[in-house]
Amino acid sequence: MKTIHTLAELRAELAQAPSRPAFVPTMGNLHDGHLALIRQARGLVAGSGSPVVASIFVNRLQFGPNEDFDRYPRTLARDAELLAGAGCDILFAPAEDELYPEPQGYKVIPPEGLANILEGAFRPGFFTGVCTVVHKLFNIVQPRVAVFGKKDYQQLMVLRNMVAQMALPIEVVGGETLRSPEGLALSSRNGYLSDAERAEALTLVRLLRGIQTQARAAEVLTPGLLQQWEDAAMAELRQRGWAPDYVMVRRQKDLHPATAEELTAGLQATPLVTLVAARIGHTRLIDNLEV
Ligand code: PAF
Repeated sequence: MKTIHTLAELRAELAQAPSRPAFVPTMGNLHDGHLALIRQARGLVAGSGSPVVASIFVNRLQFGPNEDFDRYPRTLARDAELLAGAGCDILFAPAEDELYPEPQGYKVIPPEGLANILEGAFRPGFFTGVCTVVHKLFNIVQPRVAVFGKKDYQQLMVLRNMVAQMALPIEVVGGETLRSPEGLALSSRNGYLSDAERAEALTLVRLLRGIQTQARAAEVLTPGLLQQWEDAAMAELRQRGWAPDYVMVRRQKDLHPATAEELTAGLQATPLVTLVAARIGHTRLIDNLEV
């Protein structure tokens, strides 16, 4: 695997490749979930000669003023070893002033209906930061396919929408969330958890699975029923000492609430997903489960 730090070198390297790469953008501090995305990318271009490119860039634009930009772990040497082991061909790891040599004045602002709900409601500007850096990375890497984890469900949906609306010639593929044997969704932020918090963090997947089971077993779903489950999960999180931002059961396609008619028509016609974000101690975790 080659590690490349500048745009010029990356462009020169990619110009040699027989076809456009598969791309996995990350912020580093990698875990098995990221490595699964690399393997998935490898499989998507198998036999084509396309390289697999990963990027590591902690993108200041997507962090709010009170978020963890400064303490976000930078573990480049270890990440590079893991990527090489997972079959990555090129690691692009630009310094901040390589990607943003001047303040990024041009931004990609996603539509309000997609970006101001759920994560966007609690992290103003987050999806503008994500879309701006991913659009820029897409221009640099020019991949034919890009893989993003379903762990960041709304991010995947917003980026798919950006690619479609901007007519970018890139296929966006979602990768399944990897979980610990007990069910904790792998996340770079799990490293912030104490042992006790890590054990307590399993509450999230338990609540998500509970809603999934109830939804699949229900004879008829109604907006009121979903609201009851959301309220019960929020109450349980609060009672256990969490500060929950949301627990919401939404349509998979656009993460808006399903209408009563859609719910009556059933899960096949309108697949749902439950999304949760909650803070335990100083750490904010997100998770989701398709219903
Ligand atoms: O999911 C992430 O790690 C980041 O949001 C991404 C897509 C690499 C953009 O900085």
